[in-house]
Amino acid sequence: MPTPHKKISFIVYFIGFTAALAGLLFGLDVGVISGALDFIKKDFMADLDPVHADSRAEFVVSALLWGAVAGTLISGLLSSKFGRRKTILVSAVVFIAGALACAFSPDEHFLIAARFLLGIGVGVASFTAPLYLSEISPQSVRGSMISMYQLMITIGILLAFVSDTWLATYATFDGTTGGHWRIMLGIIAIPAAIMFAGVFFLPESPRWLFLNGFREAATGVFRRMKLDDAEIAAEVREIEDSAKIRQSGWSLFKENGNFRRAIALGIGLQVIQQLTGINVIMYYAPRIFSLAGFGDPTEQMWGTVVVGITNVLATFIAIAFVDRLGRKPIMYAGFVTMGAAMVTVGSLFNTGIDQHPSLGYPAIVALLVFIVGFAMSAGPIIWVICSEIYPLSGRDLGVTCSTTTNWVVNAIVGQTFLTLINTIGGGNTFLLYGGMNVLFIIFFILLVPETKGVSLEHIERNLMSGKKLREIGR
Ligand code: BGC
Repeated sequence: MPTPHKKISFIVYFIGFTAALAGLLFGLDVGVISGALDFIKKDFMADLDPVHADSRAEFVVSALLWGAVAGTLISGLLSSKFGRRKTILVSAVVFIAGALACAFSPDEHFLIAARFLLGIGVGVASFTAPLYLSEISPQSVRGSMISMYQLMITIGILLAFVSDTWLATYATFDGTTGGHWRIMLGIIAIPAAIMFAGVFFLPESPRWLFLNGFREAATGVFRRMKLDDAEIAAEVREIEDSAKIRQSGWSLFKENGNFRRAIALGIGLQVIQQLTGINVIMYYAPRIFSLAGFGDPTEQMWGTVVVGITNVLATFIAIAFVDRLGRKPIMYAGFVTMGAAMVTVGSLFNTGIDQHPSLGYPAIVALLVFIVGFAMSAGPIIWVICSEIYPLSGRDLGVTCSTTTNWVVNAIVGQTFLTLINTIGGGNTFLLYGGMNVLFIIFFILLVPETKGVSLEHIERNLMSGKKLREIGR
């Protein structure tokens, strides 16, 4: 195990911050739809009955998510062939093109196609940026670096909520106030262009350089990160050791049951992250506020902004504690909080907010408590663990599988929420999600390792020697 790095240099933070801009865009794209959806419905689906319009709206929401599935699937190939940095640059270009296409959509079908394209950028970035971060971060701050990426996602979501609220409520263009969903969607091209410019100056991942024969260049990157000779020697030794078992992900998958176990774990973790129900709130918050009795659109938009702020602030809890307390204790606290909060929301809705409007406030408080539970735990930590459990030679395939799963389940959640509330009711929908959060605790107890402060190579040795999953971090 290398000596822990005493002091993290400024450049490491700069790298982390810039790569995490990919997270910001991810967040902007995820968050922007909640405020835009009603206006899109008014423009494109006005002549449909409400239930039918809801099911069309689900397509507009989830097109991006299916695009992200496609993006993730190709990004394993792209980032191992061309390098992490170039792949992130490509995703920025797709972000720009996709955002502009959304803004100029002449009809619903074009918009769905444009959101699919944008989703490809989101998928590629969501795969490559955390991978890059985990490869370039010194291990003593790995958890915090990846949580920083999650923080950027939440800030992106918040900025999108704020910008939607401003555009929907206050901004005046062409003499009109209200709506402006085209600007909401198009404005994202600007941060995408900034990311392109920032990533342009980043170094390539030293691990990728090393594995592709560019030893000198890899050492150069470590020097830029101000690692001293002993630290560089230790990093290089770690990479060399794990590179001895060089195989491609697929052949490793076919031949090695231990690798397959890690893949299954990553898939399970991402299914869990999405089935917490977080994105029901991210995509449909204004609708949930209206279910809770807040009929005024301005109130709904501001409520959504409060959700966004809570999401950002609670992420700091994870950043502060993930490398100190460890991943698992925080996850347990998160699941208990999320489960209790969702069950409360569901029960209050079932009591009948129409007849008891005063229940609207406690329902919203419970919703915010849920957000705190997610943001301090599953939000960042599941990405952290998924970046840590795969052996180096199969990491691209591993991260592809887990990230693809994230988007597939994300899309299913986005595609079904309005239908669920229209069929089983809002209350039962939340009870369903609440119940699942409780079950996830068992999965964590039985199968998930604690990976705090252990080198990726140590985790790999344990996994490949057949240790129980739960124990590969010891
Ligand atoms: C999840 C996203 C979610 C976001 C909310 C991320 O970790 O993967 O699906 O929208 O957190 O902050």
